[in-house]
Amino acid sequence: MITYQFAGQAVTVWTFSSFSLTAVTKQIEIRSFRFSSHVTMSLKFELIAAVSENMGIGINGDLPWRLKTEMAYFTRMTTVTKDENKKNVVLMGRRTWDCMPEKYRPLKNRINMVLTSQLMNYGDKAIVCSSISNALEIIAGMQNKVERIWVIGGSKVYKETIESPHFGRLYLTRIRKSFECDTFFPPIPNNFVLVQDPVVPQGIQEEKGIEFVYEVYKKK
Ligand SMILES: NC(=O)c1ccc[n+]([C@@H]2O[C@H](COP(=O)([O-])OP(=O)(O)OC[C@H]3O[C@@H](n4cnc5c(N)ncnc54)[C@H](OP(=O)(O)O)[C@@H]3O)[C@@H](O)[C@H]2O)c1
Repeated sequence: MITYQFAGQAVTVWTFSSFSLTAVTKQIEIRSFRFSSHVTMSLKFELIAAVSENMGIGINGDLPWRLKTEMAYFTRMTTVTKDENKKNVVLMGRRTWDCMPEKYRPLKNRINMVLTSQLMNYGDKAIVCSSISNALEIIAGMQNKVERIWVIGGSKVYKETIESPHFGRLYLTRIRKSFECDTFFPPIPNNFVLVQDPVVPQGIQEEKGIEFVYEVYKKK
């Protein structure tokens, strides 16, 4: 009899040879993989971004504009849940996390997740993920606590999640002005179509003389 740890649980295997132990272990691994890919497949990314007319999203590690109403929209969309016992995830690249002023980090009332290839530790402020699939696995493990998964940038993270089979919707604020930028939103695929979301304000918004509109896209 051999007892070992698997997925945090003690697994006891009655075996008479090392071959049968290997076979049993493999079976458990295969089952675990099927379980996790089945669970993660149902998870959908909702992207939220504000872009200028020239498709810019950032400059020098900051936003190129200051629009309080647009920021309030971002906060509302990413925070509000239907189920008060659940929270939304905000998934972001390491630079987007770094760019946020410390007083706003972590984004409150949301589960902050940061993608990085480095060995980072943000303590209880944010969960570190080594890849998009790693993020999905982590979210699948706490699915009963998560309502929506908001992807909040930057450039590469938007691109990867737009191209992912887990893509759900894109909430895009179109700012009707060009700004000098060094970071850009990836091209929007031709098969994306505009849809309505009743909670999204309609029509032209305006702040400080700058016009912008809230759009929502899904894949055709
Ligand atoms: N307008 C908007 O809506 C908006 C939204 C978000 C951000 N921004 C702006 O955009 C700029 C920051 O965006 P950015 O594109 O430069 O950087 P970013 O995407 O936020 O961060 C890039 C970093 O994220 C990590 N990363 C990304 N994809 C990963 C993956 N699949 N697996 C593991 N790690 C991954 C890497 O970190 P490591 O180098 O540590 O490996 C990479 O260097 C800022 O100017 C910010 O203000 C604007």
